[in-house]
Amino acid sequence: MSAVRAEFETTAVRLGSPQHKRLLAQFFIDTHRDYDPERIDWPPLSGEELRRLTGLPFWQEAVATENVTSNTVTAAAALESDPQLKRAIALQGFEEQRHARLLAALTAHYRIPIEFPAPYAPRDLEDDFLFAGFGECFDSFFAFGLFALARDSGFFPAALVEVFEPVLEEEVRHILFFVNWVKARRAELPWWRRPTFRLRCGWIILKQVASRAKTARSLGGGAHQSSENFTLTAHQDIGAPVTLHGLLGICLRENERRMGHYDARLARPRLVPFISRVLHRLLPASL
Ligand SMILES: [Fe+2]
Ligand SMILES: [Fe+2]
Repeated sequence: MSAVRAEFETTAVRLGSPQHKRLLAQFFIDTHRDYDPERIDWPPLSGEELRRLTGLPFWQEAVATENVTSNTVTAAAALESDPQLKRAIALQGFEEQRHARLLAALTAHYRIPIEFPAPYAPRDLEDDFLFAGFGECFDSFFAFGLFALARDSGFFPAALVEVFEPVLEEEVRHILFFVNWVKARRAELPWWRRPTFRLRCGWIILKQVASRAKTARSLGGGAHQSSENFTLTAHQDIGAPVTLHGLLGICLRENERRMGHYDARLARPRLVPFISRVLHRLLPASL
């Protein structure tokens, strides 16, 4: 047996096996970080920095998205019978609620006018969780690149970047958890129900792709789209001169870097990086 093969066999876990589920819950619980949004020492900003921050057009959408995601994920803990996975989903719900609290604290501190929507009530626990999860796989991938762009161009002062870094890291853990949970969920079903589950996931992904395609078509039109996909248009707002080709390259690099910190035995989100890699190859560098 080759050394590579031996290495593979000692490290691989079967997706959906008890070992995989243990690993999944443990990775998520162990990497949870403790912080309190209400105790953040918000950095003082210069007049220009404040103008740029408050001028970003997506605060309202960000608040609306976190409202839907946080309530959906919190409720989704009831889907799980495995106590550790249930705990991990509840913890993810807590982290999403904390994003909403962080946004509330930020917009209050810098006096960004926001209307807070009524708490979202999920309609179907599993469908809503799948929809939110696949949506996060898209949004987080672009958020990783946009954040790097804003950080490296100095658009956000370093002190503010530091405040947001834990949020980005949480989104990495969320999508990593989600794709593995979907695989474990499918593996648990009797064989004859798996194709329907795959079809449902495919349909939800298609709805998310269609929504992003609509946004991509309108790039450059200056119109801001629905709350689920504002990360696709955000590069126009952070003032960094970047082509779509360049942005995809940064997103791919950041995605790889951030995912690289976690246990290699867990499955990685593949669809969005795959589509982006294809587009990155096909698009001319000038676009
Ligand atoms: Fe979030
Ligand atoms: Fe999230």
